[in-house]
Amino acid sequence: MPPRPARPLSTLRLLRVARDNSLAACDEELFDELVVERRLFGQRYFVISDPDGIRRVMQDNVDNYPRLTWIRRVFEFAAGSGMLHAEGAPWRRHRRLINPTLDHRAMLPDGPVMIDLAEEMARHLAAIPAGQGIDLHDAFRHLVTLSAGHVFAGADRAIDPMIDRMGQYPGPYGALDLLTTPGWLRFLDCYRKTRIEAARFAPVLDRLIEERRSENYAGRRDLLWRLVNARDRDTGEGLTTAELHDEILTLGATSATSLRPLPWVWYLLATHPEAEEKLHAELDEVIGSRRPGVGDLAKLPYLRQLLDETMRLYPPLPIMMMRRALAEDTVSGRRIPRNAIVAIMPWVVHRHRKLWRDPDRFDPDRFAPAEIASRSRYAYLPFAVGPHVCVGASMAMLQLIVAVAVLARHFRFRLVPGRAIEPTAWTNIRPKGGMWMTLEPRLAVPSRVA
Ligand code: HEM
Repeated sequence: MPPRPARPLSTLRLLRVARDNSLAACDEELFDELVVERRLFGQRYFVISDPDGIRRVMQDNVDNYPRLTWIRRVFEFAAGSGMLHAEGAPWRRHRRLINPTLDHRAMLPDGPVMIDLAEEMARHLAAIPAGQGIDLHDAFRHLVTLSAGHVFAGADRAIDPMIDRMGQYPGPYGALDLLTTPGWLRFLDCYRKTRIEAARFAPVLDRLIEERRSENYAGRRDLLWRLVNARDRDTGEGLTTAELHDEILTLGATSATSLRPLPWVWYLLATHPEAEEKLHAELDEVIGSRRPGVGDLAKLPYLRQLLDETMRLYPPLPIMMMRRALAEDTVSGRRIPRNAIVAIMPWVVHRHRKLWRDPDRFDPDRFAPAEIASRSRYAYLPFAVGPHVCVGASMAMLQLIVAVAVLARHFRFRLVPGRAIEPTAWTNIRPKGGMWMTLEPRLAVPSRVA
């Protein structure tokens, strides 16, 4: 963990610390109290960790709590209609159309190629000389980009640069990205970094969309095909070209989140040999020495528990859920005034002393079915909860299960000595300075995809 301040930081110090690592700005009180009120430049804000309060904000009264404008701004691409930018009726319409394109059933046909890509990565790793350290954060970035590229556009690799570039979003914001410009200054919008970046990919998106609209299209029914051909059940209407651009760029920007848990899985396995042994025993029993198939993936409950516990301790979006109250409300018995900011932070909720026993300890058994049933589902939110729940959760879980199942069969990863490991986050969590590890071979990697 990064150092945790014993007391709330002064405004100046908070801004300085949070700029480097927002996790290091979370003080002890946040992990003890279920509702904490603070002020920043006169603005009241509430950090809500009480599961009933989270339910009120994220689910029961969700329309009262839109995302903060400056966060939405960063995801304003062409027409401003993407799921992370839009609110209200336009957002609802898009979610209804897009949910089925990314649900579990839609994702399963991508499983075999994801397995092939993970085995391909295993072959590259097997060629690394013994004892040579590699940064797992970097190594997995390639795997996640390739597998997302396949999900989006099948074998057409022209999509990869968009996914790789947008996947680094949102980097440090430019001032223009955050400002709400008045109508008469609207021309400045064309200088927004977000728009300039996104516009570069317009020609390739136009081509991919047109191909999938064509009656002669004979390719895979990949994610782009499903988006282009999604129709509203009531009106029969689909997404316009501008709306498709927005959503594809939004999904490109968000799809890289699947990378985030992977370095931490291997870090936790390397530091907890008993969990590593249990995982290997499960993989050996279910898959043995043959090639894994998609059917195996649902038979790996310990692997799933391991991933859930990893995302509890290292939530990929640890501080992201910030909302503004449109009207006064009561949350967990506290009055929330109009315009107050409400923050729900997985980093705090998942390590809260009133919600978890020994919260900083790694223990995948917390996610055994009986344990899950015994606690509120609003105490664990790596993918958020309520109507804004992550639309890509099924895709992410498939990518993660495949990556761990394939690579843990072939290798043990060991930490390179002498390098401190510290999680850091602006929006996405990552290991500061990388996650440097060496490999020990386990099962031999087959020489090529069968
Ligand atoms: C481990 C991987 C992932 C995690 C932990 C994760 C987490 C989250 C969280 C916490 C939110 C809610 C943010 C908020 O409301 O402020 C969210 C929303 C979203 N996620 Fe993910 N995500 C992951 C992977 C993905 C992938 C692979 C995609 C796309 C292919 C994706 C697309 C989105 C989109 C579009 C939204 C906005 C949904 C809406 O507001 O309707 N995510 N995600």
